[in-house]
Amino acid sequence: MNVPRTFGTIADFFAERFPISKLNFRSMVQKKEVPIHRLSWAYYLGGLALFFLGVQLVTGLMLLFYYEPTVSDAHASVEYISQHVEGGALVRNIHSWGSSCMIFCVLVHMITAFAMKAFEKPREITWISGVALLFLVFGFGFTGYLLPWNQIAVNATKVGLQSIEEVGNYLPGALAEIPTRIKETIQGEATVGQATLSRFYALHVVILPLGLLSILGLHLLSIQIHGMSQGVDRPTGRTERFFPMFILKDFSLWGVVFLGFFVVALCLPFEAFFAYPLFAPYDALGSTPDGIKPEWYFFFIYYPLELLPFWLVVGLTMVVKVVLFIAPWIFRGTSRKTLRAIAVGGALYMVVMTIFGQQIYEIFKGGHS
Ligand code: HEM
Repeated sequence: MNVPRTFGTIADFFAERFPISKLNFRSMVQKKEVPIHRLSWAYYLGGLALFFLGVQLVTGLMLLFYYEPTVSDAHASVEYISQHVEGGALVRNIHSWGSSCMIFCVLVHMITAFAMKAFEKPREITWISGVALLFLVFGFGFTGYLLPWNQIAVNATKVGLQSIEEVGNYLPGALAEIPTRIKETIQGEATVGQATLSRFYALHVVILPLGLLSILGLHLLSIQIHGMSQGVDRPTGRTERFFPMFILKDFSLWGVVFLGFFVVALCLPFEAFFAYPLFAPYDALGSTPDGIKPEWYFFFIYYPLELLPFWLVVGLTMVVKVVLFIAPWIFRGTSRKTLRAIAVGGALYMVVMTIFGQQIYEIFKGGHS
């Protein structure tokens, strides 16, 4: 291998994605235009994800004032926030609804970016950083679920961590040890306990936010440098200025969404949708409650894991992850029509598994999951 040449190629790749000549306000903001066409609405989805991220950061910081990350006090502190802190129940409810809204926006944003072929050269880094953001956002969901330290959450986390370990059974030789090591590192002790809670807390409030904010910086920088992608095969030729027009529309949308979202969070407790008593504090001697389930945004993987052989689901998940990361190269020559068909297929799968997963489970296995 010619090392200087390899380095040269890598340097050229990054120089093309982050051209220094474009790193200025004029080029990144003043001159930026947003294409107008029938899919232009999709350009607002990343901004909406950003809005919900802001909501999560603000409400998360508020919750930090009262939350206690210890197995003895976590549950009581959450109950205290809900019942005795002024506005505490609302802030908790906004944080719970906000997490679901954010994940929803990120998923739809990814599907539309894919369908519009927005990952095409020179936007590969925008795409790859986006995939990393998606995994980080799921990481927030997984770690946040444990923090209230209730019966369902602790047991669901045990099941989740157990499945990481099981992956080792399907890996050859020394690789088989890796999932167990990962599980032990996250869990921190023999069973889910104080060390696990401390680690999930550190991940949820420090490590993941730092990771997310830095990768988001890269995502947004790369978007501003390259401007919006065309998104359709036959551009209309019509565009609008990003600054101030598009930004103003973005903010107006945020305002409307905030109003609707606030009313929902004010009137509808997030927990009202759970068919089981989420509030019971964790009892190590208690039995595993029936019907423990992850949050809805993990159903697309949870139900296949319940129904199909473990190795098949894990194998497919790995393939999908790799395909997502290297999509800009795999689908370089694919037409937007085909990409749209794949995107619609993916979206349908997610919708069906999320809404009808339970029914599908009952048809194939009988009884309740
Ligand atoms: C925390 C999560 C995320 C935030 C806050 C975010 C934010 C944004 C924003 C504000 C934009 C510009 C407006 C738009 O096109 O919607 C954008 C564009 C983009 N995002 Fe994201 N994003 C996130 C996750 C993702 C994910 C998961 C992907 C895909 C895997 C992705 C891929 C892209 C691409 C390719 C563009 C460029 C769109 C174009 O040029 O037409 N993003 N993102």
